[in-house]
Amino acid sequence: MILGSTKRGDRILVNRNAHKSIYNAMILQDLVPSYVAPRVHDEWGVTLGVDTKAIAPLLASQSYACAVLTTPAYEGGMTDLSVLRASKTPLLIDAAHGAHLPILGVPPVQADASVESLHKTTPAMTQTAVINYRSDRLDEDRIDHYLSALMTSSPSYILMASIDLALGRLTTTGEAEMVNLLSLIERFEEEVADTGFKVLRFEGQDPTKILLSGVDLGIDGLTLQRELRQVHRIAVEYARPAYCLLMASISNEASDFERLLMALRQMAAGANGSPLTYGEVGESRDFPKMVATPREAFDRPKRSLALSEAAGAVAAEFVTPYPPGIPLIVPGEEITREMVERIRSMREKSIQIVGTKDHTLETLQVLR
Ligand SMILES: Cc1ncc(COP(=O)(O)O)c(C=O)c1O
Repeated sequence: MILGSTKRGDRILVNRNAHKSIYNAMILQDLVPSYVAPRVHDEWGVTLGVDTKAIAPLLASQSYACAVLTTPAYEGGMTDLSVLRASKTPLLIDAAHGAHLPILGVPPVQADASVESLHKTTPAMTQTAVINYRSDRLDEDRIDHYLSALMTSSPSYILMASIDLALGRLTTTGEAEMVNLLSLIERFEEEVADTGFKVLRFEGQDPTKILLSGVDLGIDGLTLQRELRQVHRIAVEYARPAYCLLMASISNEASDFERLLMALRQMAAGANGSPLTYGEVGESRDFPKMVATPREAFDRPKRSLALSEAAGAVAAEFVTPYPPGIPLIVPGEEITREMVERIRSMREKSIQIVGTKDHTLETLQVLR
């Protein structure tokens, strides 16, 4: 989508909490990004959508080849794109987490192009993302070219059949199944409130994303994730210090929520810690400063530097906690003391970090 909508060296506007695939497109096409920081929930530190009213004037100036925005965000924050509709800049949407929106009653994304990963929120096999594009502001032939250049020339009939089955289900029973799912989630939220755990909700959030927090019981998100998995055999999507993210879909049944509730009741009964403060579970969501474009940094000579000495150096590699796959540091960004501390703290908490040459994170690749 991005390669077919830009030319080498183009400027693009992009939310900095984008998935690593978007930075890879910037490297391939030598793009010059202007980053927009997402809004952040001031109590829980959850990353929300971007403030489109603030970026509308930037897009009116036509200085960007396109804007690439992510909505819904990983934790379910949805960006209101309506104010950008009149903008002259083509709008490309990473809607990886939005394939189920039509059965939620959310109007389809109004954009020049979007990509939806059917496998994330609908019952389809992994690797069944689809691209939608229809725009007189994009060169559709170019997009077609890049699609055939980057995809396998031997597409899988199994995956295509899976797409058909998922779309068939969405368009027939999907809406009714979603109504049922939403009532299961609502009941779960009411019942979980009695345990001491709570579900964090914010305006404009996709209701199928459940942010479960045990901070009032003294249980941080990573402990919650570990215990749910090891003791109760329940795998959550991912964890942050303040909460765990659970993704529900129309394939979930009442018994799934009952099992989760039973596990939480047991954990709550055994909890003996005092409530955690924001200071204990809050996280900075600041992003580093870009001093070279991702492509420039990718091409320049690199060296290894001890993490303890990395503050002030310019990154030559991605540092990406996975999930959610949003790079903490992108090649070309200045590594701050605070970033070094965040990497250390993630390492101590055994949060999986990908993208670095040294998997132990003792050293980082930086520009020479
Ligand atoms: C926001 C976002 N965009 C893109 C992707 C990549 O999607 P896919 O799994 O279809 O490659 C992900 C995957 O985690 C994502 O969270």
